[in-house]
Order: sequence, then structure tokens, then C-alpha cells
Amino acid sequence: MRAVVADRLGDPSVLQVKEVPTPEPGPGDVVVRVGAAGVNFPDILSVAGTYQHKQEVPFIPGIEGAGTIHAVGNDVRGWKPGDKVIFGVRPGAFAEYARVTRPDAMMRLPEGWSEIEGAGYRVAARTAYHSLVHRAGTRKGDVVLVHGASGGVGLSAVQLAKHLGARVIATGGDDTRLDIVKRHAGADDLVNYRTTDFVAAVKELTGGKGADVIYDPVGGEVLEKSVRAAAYGARLLIVGFTSGGPSKIMSNHVLIKGLTILGVRAGETIARIAPELGLDYVKVLPRLAAQGVMRPHISHRFPMEGVADAFRALIDRQVVGKAVIEMI
Ligand SMILES: NC(=O)c1ccc[n+]([C@@H]2O[C@H](COP(=O)([O-])OP(=O)(O)OC[C@H]3O[C@@H](n4cnc5c(N)ncnc54)[C@H](OP(=O)(O)O)[C@@H]3O)[C@@H](O)[C@H]2O)c1
Repeated sequence: MRAVVADRLGDPSVLQVKEVPTPEPGPGDVVVRVGAAGVNFPDILSVAGTYQHKQEVPFIPGIEGAGTIHAVGNDVRGWKPGDKVIFGVRPGAFAEYARVTRPDAMMRLPEGWSEIEGAGYRVAARTAYHSLVHRAGTRKGDVVLVHGASGGVGLSAVQLAKHLGARVIATGGDDTRLDIVKRHAGADDLVNYRTTDFVAAVKELTGGKGADVIYDPVGGEVLEKSVRAAAYGARLLIVGFTSGGPSKIMSNHVLIKGLTILGVRAGETIARIAPELGLDYVKVLPRLAAQGVMRPHISHRFPMEGVADAFRALIDRQVVGKAVIEMI
């Protein structure tokens, strides 16, 4: 089969399309004929060698995709060849075939969705759901401030927060992409944090109160300033660091405002301490998808040979929602 391979770690130019052996299903596995795979910021970090989960080279990147089940191993219940699915792998999705070792965590491709849309659902939806529901307990009437709202995990968070009955203030660095956040995801208010002081904007929009929940995949100065945009008793979700690195949060502000700081590890928390919450992913995420909540917006599509361009589109902040690699 053809696959995108990282023979060494580095910038996106290290990625090459190569012929590699097609995977066979072991007991309990399924092999999926991949239609499309979603591109995520962690893919860039994995190939660069800076992600928390280190990969041995050579490896095939890509952590999510959608396609058709090709082969089913012994002991697999509930799935058969021909089923259309959304799947996760750690890693291996940027290939014509992917071996999925946790078929119990797959979901059926929702009715009416293309594989391209399905490829962009799982990671962003899980991250938004774990953050806003499991961690922050977002409620109707909360003001939710979503940073990096035009990115993958950001756009899903806007959609889910609206579904939960929150008022959403969405930030981003580009007016045109922010407009899509309003049209596709229904954000109530938009703030361009490159041209506007978002702390002042949030205060003004909330009558001086601030945001009840802050969802931050950007980090750096954005997270540091967010403490000042928080309402008393707010929940601050630390989701990622696309701006380049961690931040220093002033502990006196955390105390004075009675803030709760929540680290988000969408996969890890469930693996380590709360397996029962994993059932939500299997049951709730397909239901939300069927209702059209968090339906992905795909702004960029690339063939396998264009994988480096796909990575650069994320690095250059061009993507709205998701970029995908198409295998077929
Ligand atoms: N905690 C978890 O469980 C979990 C799960 C999945 C992903 N993540 C993390 O969440 C973050 C976002 O992932 P994603 O796949 O959604 O990424 P993405 O689609 O590229 O979106 C990230 C957004 O960050 C903003 N941004 C601000 N400064 C940036 C910079 N210097 N370079 C690039 N983007 C910048 C961009 O919006 P503007 O241009 O509008 O500012 C961009 O749209 C990553 O750090 C990822 O590792 C965490």
C-alpha cells in the first residue's frame, strides 16, 4: 500500500509517500481502507519530535480518519467488512490502510456525511466534549470564551458550547476566518485578538463580569491575559499551545478570582483515571454527530503527496476547522 512515512524527525519536508506492507488484522483488530484522514496540530509536533507521545522512526503519522472496514480479526464483535467508520489510531492514518487496535472506540460514519467530513470529527469532537462537559461542566447561560476558534478543536468547542446553551465569544487572528466561525458554528461574538484587546472586549460584552468558561488551545500570552477576562469562579481549560509554548499564570489572580484551572488530556484522563467517561465518547459523540452538532468544516483537502503542504497550512494559520488528506 501507499503511505506517508516519516523516516526521520523534523519539519514537514521529511515526509515522503512510499510503498509499505499492507497491515493484517491481529486478534481483536480491524483494518480500515482509509478514505480520508484528518490533520491535527499534534501530527506536526509528532513529526518534529516535540509531542508528548514520542514516535520511533520510521512511522506513519495521522491519528484519525474515516473509511470502510476491509478486514476483521478474530474476536471482533459488532463490525464487518464494508461498514463505514470513523476511527482513531496512535498513529498510522496517513495510509491507504490502517490497523485499528481499539475497534470498540470506532463509530459509524453518520448518515449523509462524506468520509472527508468523518475524517475531521473524532479528535476535535472528543477534545471539545471532554473539555466543556467532563472538565468544565458547561451549563446553559454560561459565557464561554473560545480562543483559536477557527482551528480544529476551537471550532468544535464553539459548536458544542452553543448546543449546550452557552453564549460564545470566539477569538481568532483573522477576520475572514472568524466570519466562518460565526456562519458555520454560530458564535455570538467575534474578537480578533491580533487587532483588539480581547480582555477589554470580553469585559465590555459581559457588562464587566467576564467569561465563565475559557477554552484555550493557543497558550502563551493569550492564556496569561485570559485570567483577566475571567469571571469570578470561572473554569479555565488548558487545551494546547499552538502559539509555541506554556504560559505563566499569576497565582494571586487565580486566588482573588476563585478560578479553577483545568488541564485537558482528552484521551489520557479516560485511559488513566476515568474509564467510565470513555463510554460517553462511544455513545454520546455518535448521537451528537447524528444531530449535526460539531459537524466538521473542511477548508483544505490534499492528496497524500501534498501532506507537507497540509502541515504548512496549519502552521501558517490558513485552515478553518480541518484540513484532510484524501487517500482515494
Ligand atoms: N488537550 C488535548 O486533549 C488536545 C487534543 C487535541 C489537540 N490539542 C491541542 O490543541 C491545539 C490546537 O490543535 P488543532 O489541531 O485544533 O490546531 P489548529 O487546527 O491548527 O488550530 C489552532 C489555532 O491556533 C491559533 N494559533 C494561534 N497562534 C498560532 C501559531 N503561532 N501557529 C498556529 N496556530 C496558531 C490559530 O488560530 P488564529 O490564527 O485564528 O489565531 C489556529 O487556528 C494544539 O496545541 C493541540 O496539540 C489538545
